[in-house]
Amino acid sequence: MKICVLGLGHIGLPTALLFAAHGADVVGVDVKQSVVDCLNHRNLPFREPGLEDLYREAEERFAARARPGTADVFLIAVPTPLDQATKVSDLSYVKKAADSIAPHLARGNLVILESTVPPERASGSSSPGSRRKASLSGISSTLTVRSGRYRGGLSRR
Ligand SMILES: NC(=O)c1ccc[n+]([C@@H]2O[C@H](COP(=O)([O-])OP(=O)(O)OC[C@H]3O[C@@H](n4cnc5c(N)ncnc54)[C@H](O)[C@@H]3O)[C@@H](O)[C@H]2O)c1
Repeated sequence: MKICVLGLGHIGLPTALLFAAHGADVVGVDVKQSVVDCLNHRNLPFREPGLEDLYREAEERFAARARPGTADVFLIAVPTPLDQATKVSDLSYVKKAADSIAPHLARGNLVILESTVPPERASGSSSPGSRRKASLSGISSTLTVRSGRYRGGLSRR
C-alpha cells in the first residue's frame, strides 16, 4: 500500500514514519524544501523522544518530496492556526493541500483529514476542483474525529 502524508510536522512526520515502519510505502510531502532535504539526508527536522529510532525502522520505506503523486491513501496533516482575535481557524493550508492532491486522486483512494478542522467546515476545506475530481472518481468523503488520542510516537505504546 502506498500512503502519501502531507505536512511533515509534529503530527505528520511521526504518523508517516509509523506507517512506513509497519510495512507501507510512504511518501511524505512538505512545502518547506528544508524539511524535505533534511529528511532525505537522513536527518530529522525536529527532536521528539523515540523519533530517531522510529526513523531508523522506517527509512527503507519512507521518502520525502516537495510535491505529492499518486497513492492509495492520502493523509493531510497541515497547520490550521487559530486566529486569536476572531477564534476562527485558518483553513488555507488545508485547501492548498487538498488542491495539490486533486490531480492524483483516483477511484478507491482514501483521504484522511488529520488537521484540526471544525466538523461543519470539513467538506468546505476542499476546493471546487478537488471536490469535482473526487466526485468524478466516485470518492465519498467521511470525517472521523478522534482527537487528542496521540501525539507522534506515543501511539506505538
Ligand atoms: N489529530 C490529532 O490528534 C491532532 C493532534 C494535534 C494536532 N493536530 C492537528 O494537526 C495539524 C498539524 O499539526 P502539527 O503540529 O503537525 O503542525 P506543524 O506546524 O508541526 O507541521 C505542519 C507541516 O505542514 C507543512 N505544510 C504546510 N502546508 C502544506 C502543504 N500544502 N502541503 C504539504 N505540507 C504543508 C508545514 O511546512 C509544516 O512542516 C494541525 O491542524 C493540528 O491542529 C491533530
